[in-house]
Amino acid sequence: MDAIKIVIFNNKGGVAKTTTVINLAYSLQAYDKKILVVDCDTQENCFGFFMANKTADAILHTDYDRIDHTTWSRYSKLPVEPEGYDYVIFDMPPTINDEVRVVLRQCNTVYVPIKLGEFEISGLRKVTDEINQLGIKFGGVFVTMYQARKHAEILMEVRRILGKRLLETVIPFSDSVDKSLMNGLPIKAYFTEHGVPKTKNSWKIVDAYEDLALEIMRGEGNG
Ligand SMILES: Nc1ncnc2c1ncn2[C@@H]1O[C@H](COP(=O)(O)OP(=O)(O)O)[C@@H](O)[C@H]1O
Ligand SMILES: [Mg+2]
Repeated sequence: MDAIKIVIFNNKGGVAKTTTVINLAYSLQAYDKKILVVDCDTQENCFGFFMANKTADAILHTDYDRIDHTTWSRYSKLPVEPEGYDYVIFDMPPTINDEVRVVLRQCNTVYVPIKLGEFEISGLRKVTDEINQLGIKFGGVFVTMYQARKHAEILMEVRRILGKRLLETVIPFSDSVDKSLMNGLPIKAYFTEHGVPKTKNSWKIVDAYEDLALEIMRGEGNG
């Protein structure tokens, strides 16, 4: 079976695209899926994150059995699409240009992470228009860095406006995300390695990334 190619896209920076790619890949592999992460951002990418051993190979193995990694420049030069993956996940730069459109066009589905705030949401139209114009499947928008204290009302408003185009999964804000990334670990691996106790609050974000994986698998008819 061909891999399902999904892209985590928003032309804004700092909306957790890269964080999503890392943690979504980790959750999907925990559901026995085999993942190839493709970095399309030459500036800030998952490369240093997943890669310990740098070789000339186009596709590199990571510390995780079912997660491999490559860059767009390598991926796009492959003579045939790599086999054996359930998902190929593309991490994008915070921009829209022709190069980005080339990546988007060859994907099956686009998922759009957003932060809640007037400022962040105002640009959403540009993203959805772009997706429509390219004629690719729009998997939905999902909220990241959610803080109930600040965002409860605006979340309801966004849900009202977007309806089914907003995924059910909401990724909460967690101070541990920065720490996990600095330690080079997906959040669940970080919690496990550091023996963070399973209180309801601390592990909320782990559950959320698992929910996101399930929701995307279901959306792709692969649940
Ligand atoms: N759920 C979260 N809670 C707290 N901080 C987060 C969360 N997700 C991402 N971040 C932080 O937000 C910043 C931007 O995330 P990043 O994934 O690099 O965004 P992008 O790839 O869209 O530019 C990083 O410092 C990251 O640690
Ligand atoms: Mg990024």
